[in-house]
Amino acid sequence: MNFMLIFTLILTLQSINTYSLPFVVFHGISDKCSNEGVSYFTELLSNWSGSPGYCIEIGNGEWDSWFMPFTKQVDIACDKVKEIDELSEGYHIIGLSQGNMVGRGLVELCSDGPPVKNLISLAGPHAGIASVPFCGQSGLLCILADSLLKLAIYSNFVQEHLAPAGYIKIPTDIADYRKGCKFLPVVNNEIHGNSTFKKRFASLENLVLIMFEKDQILVPKQTSWFGYYPDGSWSTVLPAKETKLYTEDWIGLKILDEAGKVKFLNVSGNHLEISTSEMKKNILPYLVDNASTTVTTSRSSDLWPSSVRNFNDKLNGVGEEILELHTHVESVSLRSWTFW
Ligand SMILES: *[C@@H]1O[C@H](CO)[C@@H](O)[C@H](O)[C@H]1NC(C)=O
Ligand SMILES: *[C@@H]1O[C@H](CO)[C@@H](O)[C@H](O)[C@H]1NC(C)=O
Ligand SMILES: *[C@@H]1O[C@H](CO)[C@@H](O)[C@H](O)[C@H]1NC(C)=O
Ligand SMILES: *[C@@H]1O[C@H](CO)[C@@H](O)[C@H](O)[C@H]1NC(C)=O
Repeated sequence: MNFMLIFTLILTLQSINTYSLPFVVFHGISDKCSNEGVSYFTELLSNWSGSPGYCIEIGNGEWDSWFMPFTKQVDIACDKVKEIDELSEGYHIIGLSQGNMVGRGLVELCSDGPPVKNLISLAGPHAGIASVPFCGQSGLLCILADSLLKLAIYSNFVQEHLAPAGYIKIPTDIADYRKGCKFLPVVNNEIHGNSTFKKRFASLENLVLIMFEKDQILVPKQTSWFGYYPDGSWSTVLPAKETKLYTEDWIGLKILDEAGKVKFLNVSGNHLEISTSEMKKNILPYLVDNASTTVTTSRSSDLWPSSVRNFNDKLNGVGEEILELHTHVESVSLRSWTFW
């Protein structure tokens, strides 16, 4: 198959900034690369950074983001990134919400794939979620998704047919989670610590974890920073550094953090609602070349490449925008559910 058909090429080779690595976006649940929010986001970042940006679609996007298990989604993504020649020298990943499960999978599970340099995560359910996304609308997709969610989440049937079941972690049902959940325990190296997965994750140059302060979809929102409930309890949310994933360093998060490569960032909005100025501050520095990346603590715009400076100039007089990078999905906390 012609590889041009397989991914959405947003912008390429538009600028001569050949040192800027390309980036790839993975969208969230119920979404599609061709939807306006995601395509605008990708194009904007590509314009600002002068780097080619791609949104890689898995299956048909909307439907498969609900129903294709992540092991399969990652296999498909792994094949696709290998087919894109422009990524062969390395690339950055931007994960939107559930798209971070694909991003994490690519970093850890994709053998012989092109190297991932920066993993930029927006509202990623990295430590699991204790809520279920609900489609809540009419239409076959939503009726199916919502009815699967009401079944036993850790059964083989649901694990094989409902993507979000791969990262739901009910704090008071850890035994079933470890036994039945097919994806998160693998990428978080919870059961069979796999040194290859850890080595790959620890080789990232930057891990950028963006939490949304008013996130109503991810429960708890701190999962975006690898924070989570302790096993067996809903009482508090442990910060990442107090979780076993960090202290026992299952995947190399501690190695990265101690090397100063983990950026715990927050933005003010609800799930995946981010302003253009927050994007410039929190995402853009990790898409431009090394020389600029190392000066991200400096606000001095003259250290940025000319493509970014030009944008800043152009932005004067242009209003700030808020991008909503999600489609209509609601979530229900499992805390109040009694039938588990
Ligand atoms: C990106 O740049 C192109 C070329 O200048 C322009 O046509 C397009 O509108 C820009 N896209 C965004 C989202 O700003
Ligand atoms: C890690 O997992 C991969 C894929 O399942 C497997 O091929 C490999 O042998 C494992 N490595 C270690 C060190 O356990
Ligand atoms: C980010 O978190 C810090 C504390 O960790 C808080 O003081 C700050 O207000 C937060 N920023 C936003 C934009 O919510
Ligand atoms: C960025 O710097 C790191 C370490 O200094 C290096 O390994 C990597 O290749 C550089 N990446 C680019 C895009 O220059």
